[in-house]
Amino acid sequence: MSQEGLAAQLANMCITDARCAPQEVLVKVIAVSNQKGGVGKTTTVVNLAAAARRRGLRVLTLDANPQAHLSRHAGVGPDAVGLSALLRAAANLSLDEDMIRAVLDQERPDAVDCGDIIPAEGSLDDDSAVLLNVSGREQLLREVLAPIRDDYDVAIIDTSPGFDLIATNAWVAADAILVPCPPEVYALEGLAKLARHLAEVRHRLNPNLKVLGILLTLAELHTIDGRATSDALRAGAPWPVLRQVVTKRVAYRQAASERVTVDALDGELGRVWDRIAEEVLSDVREVAGV
Ligand SMILES: Nc1ncnc2c1ncn2[C@@H]1O[C@H](COP(=O)(O)OP(=O)(O)OP(=O)(O)O)[C@@H](O)[C@H]1O
Ligand SMILES: [Mg+2]
Repeated sequence: MSQEGLAAQLANMCITDARCAPQEVLVKVIAVSNQKGGVGKTTTVVNLAAAARRRGLRVLTLDANPQAHLSRHAGVGPDAVGLSALLRAAANLSLDEDMIRAVLDQERPDAVDCGDIIPAEGSLDDDSAVLLNVSGREQLLREVLAPIRDDYDVAIIDTSPGFDLIATNAWVAADAILVPCPPEVYALEGLAKLARHLAEVRHRLNPNLKVLGILLTLAELHTIDGRATSDALRAGAPWPVLRQVVTKRVAYRQAASERVTVDALDGELGRVWDRIAEEVLSDVREVAGV
C-alpha cells in the first residue's frame, strides 16, 4: 500500500473512532492489544509493569494468552493454575476471593519484579469455545478482577493476537487499551480492524473504553522506510502515538530468554520504559499519590 493509501485509511479510522469517543475515565486496567502477532505486546507488558514497579506502584499483570509467554517470563511454571481456571469458576458461579488469592500466591522463585501475576494455562486456548454458551460470557474477566481491583494501582493484561472471546473479555474488563504497533505497512493495516472491533465493544459492552495510544515497537528509525512509516502513522493515526519509541534491539530477545526485564541488560533501555510509563501511567500516578 502507498503512503497516501495508508494515510487515507487512517483518516477513515479517525472518523470511526471520533463517533464513539468515550468519556474520560480513570485508567486502572490496561489491555495491551493488537490483533497482529509478534508486535511486542508481551514485551510491552513485562517492561511497562517493571517500570510501574520502579515508580512504586502496586502492579498486577494478567496473562490472557494461552502461549503463556508472559507467565514464563515472570517465572511462573507450566503447571501453575491461572486465568482459565478463574474464568471457568466465574462461569460456574463458583469463583471466590480465596481462589483468586491462591492463584496470586503461587511460587515464583527468582522471578523478575513485574508485580503480581495471574498466569495463563494452555487450557485458555479452549475457553473461547467452552464459555460460548455462558450468559454474560464477555464479563467473566471483569468478575475475576472485581474482588482484587482495589489491591492494585494498575493492572496490565497481555492479550492474544486476534479478537477471540478471551481478548474481548480483556477489553470489557479494561479501562483502556494500549496498542503496540511496529511502524510498517502491514501492521498499520491491522489497525483498521482493531478500530472496527473497538467500535463494536464500545457500542455493546464497554462504552467507556479508552485508547491510551499507539506505542511504536520494533522500530528501525535509522532506515528511510522506518522513518517514513513512523511519520505517516504519527500524521494520520486515529489515536495518539506515544512520543517514546521502542526501537528494535537484540537486548529484548536476550531479556526474554534470560527472563529478566530489559533494564537489567541495558540501563538506557530501562530509562526508555520509565519514560513510556510516565506517558501511559500519568493519571494512575496521580491517584496513587506517587
Ligand atoms: N524492540 C524489540 N527489539 C527486538 N526484539 C523484540 C523487540 N520487542 C519484542 N521483540 C522480540 O520479538 C518477539 C515478539 O515479541 P512479543 O512476544 O513481545 O510479541 P507479541 O505481540 O506478544 O507476540 P504474540 O502475538 O505471539 O503474543 C519476541 O521474540 C521478542 O523478544
Ligand atoms: Mg505475546
